[in-house]
Amino acid sequence: MRYSEELIEEVRERNDIVDVVAGYVSLKKRGSNHWGLCPFHSEKTPSFSVSGAKQMYYCFGCGAGGNVYTFLMNYENMSFQEAVKFLADRAGIQLPEPDESEEAKKREGKRARLLEVNKEAAKFFYYQLRSPRGAVGLRYLKKRELSDETMHRFGLGYAGASGADLVAYLRQKGFEDELIKEAGLASHSEQHGLLSQFWNRVMFPIQDINHRVIGFGGRVMGDATPKYLNSPETPVFDKRRNLYGLNFARTARCGNIILCEGYMDVIAMHQAGFTQAVASLGTAFTPEQANLLHRYTENVLLAYDSDGAGVKAALRGIGILREAGLNGRVINMQPYKDPDEFIKAQGRDAFQERIDKAENSFFFEIRILEGQFDMSDPEAKTRFHHEIAKKLCDFSEDVERDNYLQAVADKYLIGVENLRRLVNSYAARTGLAKPVERPKSGVHQKNSPQENAKKAQRLLITWLSDEPGLYDRVKRYISPEDFTDELYQKVAVRLFQSLEEGVFQPAGLISMFEDEDEQREAAALFHTNLPELNTGQEREKAFHDILLAVKKNSYEYYTGRLGTDVNALKQAVEGKKALEELAKAHISLD
Ligand code: UTP
Ligand code: MN
Repeated sequence: MRYSEELIEEVRERNDIVDVVAGYVSLKKRGSNHWGLCPFHSEKTPSFSVSGAKQMYYCFGCGAGGNVYTFLMNYENMSFQEAVKFLADRAGIQLPEPDESEEAKKREGKRARLLEVNKEAAKFFYYQLRSPRGAVGLRYLKKRELSDETMHRFGLGYAGASGADLVAYLRQKGFEDELIKEAGLASHSEQHGLLSQFWNRVMFPIQDINHRVIGFGGRVMGDATPKYLNSPETPVFDKRRNLYGLNFARTARCGNIILCEGYMDVIAMHQAGFTQAVASLGTAFTPEQANLLHRYTENVLLAYDSDGAGVKAALRGIGILREAGLNGRVINMQPYKDPDEFIKAQGRDAFQERIDKAENSFFFEIRILEGQFDMSDPEAKTRFHHEIAKKLCDFSEDVERDNYLQAVADKYLIGVENLRRLVNSYAARTGLAKPVERPKSGVHQKNSPQENAKKAQRLLITWLSDEPGLYDRVKRYISPEDFTDELYQKVAVRLFQSLEEGVFQPAGLISMFEDEDEQREAAALFHTNLPELNTGQEREKAFHDILLAVKKNSYEYYTGRLGTDVNALKQAVEGKKALEELAKAHISLD
């Protein structure tokens, strides 16, 4: 962090989050919060809340959350530094020249230089495509029916036959050979010195969500191999955490995001008006990318190739989406290979129809499964039904499982009761699996004991931040060490400290996390849905239960670490005592 913590806090305190957010989102006061339509996902009823008391915002729909800095970083694509500067200006605070550690300066400097060299290279390719030498590239892209506007929007370019031109251009712009190599733009050859990695290819700059060029994909214009050449991973190019097209798709806000396999597919879909399309970066779809998508939507439509490899990739993708708590559906591309070919052949309305008819991911899985059995053979058919029953056990929620059971029985003409018996017998043998719950708070919750423990810890943090007065009554039982999750504990240390000092400002806590995901998770801690209870007695019981759950988990956690952790013994002994006292204690909420 470049500015001092005090200054960052001062700037934050001088900018009321309700005022700042109200500049972008129309808010209505209800209860102690202000509510509006979430700007980070598409919705019809407001689940986006801004709390003046906490100086934080949180969306109960998509889990977006944070303080005034986070808001600007997400809404305006500002960096943290830019957000500080913007808000300092807004409040009329003079900022000193930033001070920073040598190492951080170097790292930031390196990243900035890599982004610069990528940007210059993208410009070079862009102008090459539009120069006489680039005619063959332009012809190729036109043949693929891309308009000038589309090519411009995606910054498409061309790498000519000579590998030396790019290098000469970049050197002349003042970039050192070392940096050009580190960006993956060129490599050294014994004979010719430094040469571009890309030649004779049309170039697709890959941008992060802030439209910065982080790498390239280059396609041959014929049938040579490899068809696409991609930049290697670099400090600015993380293929697991970026998606092609997301810089545009994130603001499409049409209720879903379409995930496909290829750069050309993304471009063809955007050109046809489906600006919510993204693709992974020449590698398989990852859980990190699923979490990234979850910031913008609950619904992901898979538009994978219709061939065997595409189906396999789709099945994998469905699992990853489910793990991330996203609803997945599959777009049928038949009889065409991919979205690009489909749209070329059938046009946008036909594609929209396919979107509307996208298949529920469970039925897609079952349909693929069906293909593996010979339905004219009674024995194979039975095995198919058993497989269906097994898959149904993956639904932990009774209602959901039963709905699927009936639907699938209907569709495949299986007796409902027979299928139910099969499911029950599998469930008895293996237990009903507990898959991911659709996260309601945006925090991914599974019902494992660890998750339950974490939930109690979240509830306690939210409750204490809603009613800081309770702190004095619980501090003899609970300490920050009782928060066994690393991030939670960091938050608890600061929260308890500020409650102890009587200055309660949870929003400041958010800025101590540099990583955006951590900021969101920290913000979520202060916005857990507290149980809605009517009587004071019920509330007291709920609060007491939460305290006990946190303490009990902490006791078990430290007992389990005896012998490996020097702190564990002390924590366990004190924990046991506190637990016994707490069990008997009456804590009034009045
Ligand atoms: P496809 O082979 O499906 O290509 O690869 P495509 O997207 O349909 O491209 P066109 O229409 O033939 O031009 C899908 C994605 O897999 C990666 C690229 O990201 C590509 O967009 N890929 C493919 C590679 O990285 N290298 C390759 O050699 C091939
Ligand atoms: Mn294609």
